[in-house]
Amino acid sequence: MRSINRTRFVWCATIFFVLLGGGCSQVTRDKLLRVFIDGAPELKKEESSAVGQAAPDEKAKGRETEIIQAPKPSLFYHEPFLGQMCDSCHDSKFSQKLIFQGKELCFSCHDDFTTDKKVVHYPADEGLCVECHSPHQSENEKLLKKPVPAICYACHDDFAKGKKVVHYPVGEGLCLECHEPHSSENASILKKPVPAICFTCHDKKGIKEQPQHEGQDMCLECHDPHASNAEKLLK
Ligand code: HEC
Ligand code: HEC
Ligand code: HEC
Ligand code: HEC
Ligand code: HEC
Ligand code: HEC
Ligand code: HEC
Repeated sequence: MRSINRTRFVWCATIFFVLLGGGCSQVTRDKLLRVFIDGAPELKKEESSAVGQAAPDEKAKGRETEIIQAPKPSLFYHEPFLGQMCDSCHDSKFSQKLIFQGKELCFSCHDDFTTDKKVVHYPADEGLCVECHSPHQSENEKLLKKPVPAICYACHDDFAKGKKVVHYPVGEGLCLECHEPHSSENASILKKPVPAICFTCHDKKGIKEQPQHEGQDMCLECHDPHASNAEKLLK
């Protein structure tokens, strides 16, 4: 309750300031406008940064972040759990005993993605689905027990730790830009093989034109895909 009242207070205070036209910068008002009227045009970049350089009002800034953050749904539910279909997994509503073990339970409803692919992620293959997913509900999308990349680092060493150079998508935790979580046709459960996966983000023509890349397709012979102590992720 306390936090709701506080939020309401901040709303009122901010609307008051907006109406006054003095308390908030143009950026704040523009963002608020976008909260009130979905689709209100964004400020042009120059305008936005010009205002950004004006004397910063720390208090206004605080209000801004508090209000603009979209309310995160606190829980995601697994459909059969939400529908009280406990006995689609358990002996009955009153029993914890599962009707199937491991991945068989999950694949009694979901398509089996572990038998039709060349490369299968070990924990998925072993039916350790609940190492990553909660069977009932979760604070994270896709019922994940932790968001990516934290869920990956629950088992894998953080290979970026202590390295001088970290590949941008790795530093940002975008593991799934390159890897499938379950299975794939490519080595290392990659979404596409090397070098195609690299060219989903890097300009193929630009890379190929650099002298050091002439006729080079085996990117991993020279580069580490995650992190390195040498410049340009060189091995
Ligand atoms: C999609 C399958 C599925 C459905 C539907 C489901 N459960 Fe579960 N439940 C599981 C699995 C799998 C486990 C074991 C989790 C583990 O080992 O970490 C479990 C564990 C439990 C446990 C043990 C404690 C815990 O939370 O780990 C209880 C109690 C439980 N379920 C109750 C229910 C009730 C009540 C319902 C219906 C409202 C329900 N479950 C619906 C799959 C399901
Ligand atoms: C009784 C049928 C049933 C069983 C058994 C079942 N699921 Fe589901 N699951 C569903 C349905 C229905 C949905 C929602 C529709 C969809 O995304 O396919 C769903 C969705 C999901 C999602 C996506 C959730 C989201 O927010 O997008 C995950 C992850 C998932 N299930 C994992 C599992 C795991 C892991 C197991 C085994 C422990 C399992 N399911 C067992 C029926 C089932
Ligand atoms: C290593 C962690 C991990 C394991 C183990 C794992 N998953 Fe997942 N699963 C994920 C991640 C991460 C996603 C989200 C993928 C995305 O957002 O593209 C996901 C997504 C899903 C989805 C939703 C797919 C969709 O497109 O919405 C289902 C269903 C699912 N998993 C079922 C399972 C089942 C069944 C198992 C066991 C056989 C399993 N998972 C094992 C990490 C895992
Ligand atoms: C429950 C533990 C667990 C979690 C969580 C987990 N992994 Fe793994 N992963 C493993 C194991 C075990 C192996 C096999 C290691 C081996 O063969 O040396 C593996 C192997 C891999 C491989 C190499 C696959 C191959 O065939 O060469 C990749 C890539 C990978 N994991 C990525 C991920 C990503 C990305 C995530 C997060 C979405 C993740 N892992 C989460 C346990 C886990
Ligand atoms: C830019 C693409 C890319 C991103 C992003 C990426 N990986 Fe990889 N990953 C690769 C490639 C390519 C390989 C194969 C390396 C090899 O064969 O030497 C690999 C291999 C792996 C392996 C198995 C071999 C090893 O080095 O241990 C694991 C585990 C792994 N990645 C986990 C992750 C996790 C966790 C994340 C997110 C923090 C991540 N990767 C992000 C491209 C990527
Ligand atoms: C998801 C997008 C994405 C993918 C996929 C990707 N990269 Fe990158 N990579 C980036 C970004 C973003 C940068 C940073 C660019 C910059 O700083 O100009 C970067 C930078 C680099 C750098 C320069 C690092 C430095 O310190 O200057 C190298 C080398 C590199 N990537 C190699 C690869 C290789 C090899 C692959 C394929 C295995 C790959 N990348 C796949 C997004 C990606
Ligand atoms: C024979 C070794 C070698 C191979 C193979 C190789 N590279 Fe490089 N790459 C280099 C070197 C050396 C540099 C650093 C050049 C420099 O410092 O200007 C570099 C730099 C880069 C950069 C950063 C460019 C920049 O302007 O900062 C990217 C991105 C990159 N490589 C991507 C790739 C991709 C993608 C592949 C596979 C198609 C690949 N490389 C294969 C040696 C290689």
